[in-house]
Amino acid sequence: MSSWINEWAFHLHLLMAISWIGGSVFMFVLGVSLRDKRAQQEVYPHVGPIFGWFELASLIILLSTGVILGFRYDLFSLLIHPNGSEISDALLKKTILVAILTVATVVHFVIAYKTNGKERTRWQHFFSRASSMLIFVLNLFVMHYAIVLRDIL
Ligand code: HEM
Repeated sequence: MSSWINEWAFHLHLLMAISWIGGSVFMFVLGVSLRDKRAQQEVYPHVGPIFGWFELASLIILLSTGVILGFRYDLFSLLIHPNGSEISDALLKKTILVAILTVATVVHFVIAYKTNGKERTRWQHFFSRASSMLIFVLNLFVMHYAIVLRDIL
């Protein structure tokens, strides 16, 4: 593939990684620092949907450009037949973490979409909190394996 998309895929991948991870770090800081219930009820219904769509768009572009990069470096055959090399391990770990992260994002997004501005049940509250913590932590590991991968390529 030698189109402009291929040329720009890495730039876009990096920009979206910054947006996606930066967004999740900011929401983590907001969640920790905005403890007042009334302030939360004022802020979240406005910020939530904008943040949600922003994060969803950045994840979709992140995954799409990741797939383009995967084809560019012929990584998918290595993913299907891992050979124990450093690059194969990093690729496998990154892909598994990205898959879990994507499922957690869908869970979080569906709950947020259904309950924005409404009371949540105990389970909705639990799954929403658990998925956002998981996304936050997984991002740090995905970043690590992304750096290992780029170091080798
Ligand atoms: C949440 C999802 C993802 C995040 C946060 C992410 C993050 C990153 C980051 C930060 C880098 C740059 C590392 C550096 O410059 O040291 C990178 C590179 C890379 N990513 Fe991802 N990535 C994601 C998904 C994917 C997917 C699904 C693939 C496809 C298998 C992929 C394939 C690659 C490749 C091949 C590189 C190296 C590109 C190069 O060296 O030119 N990424 N990723």
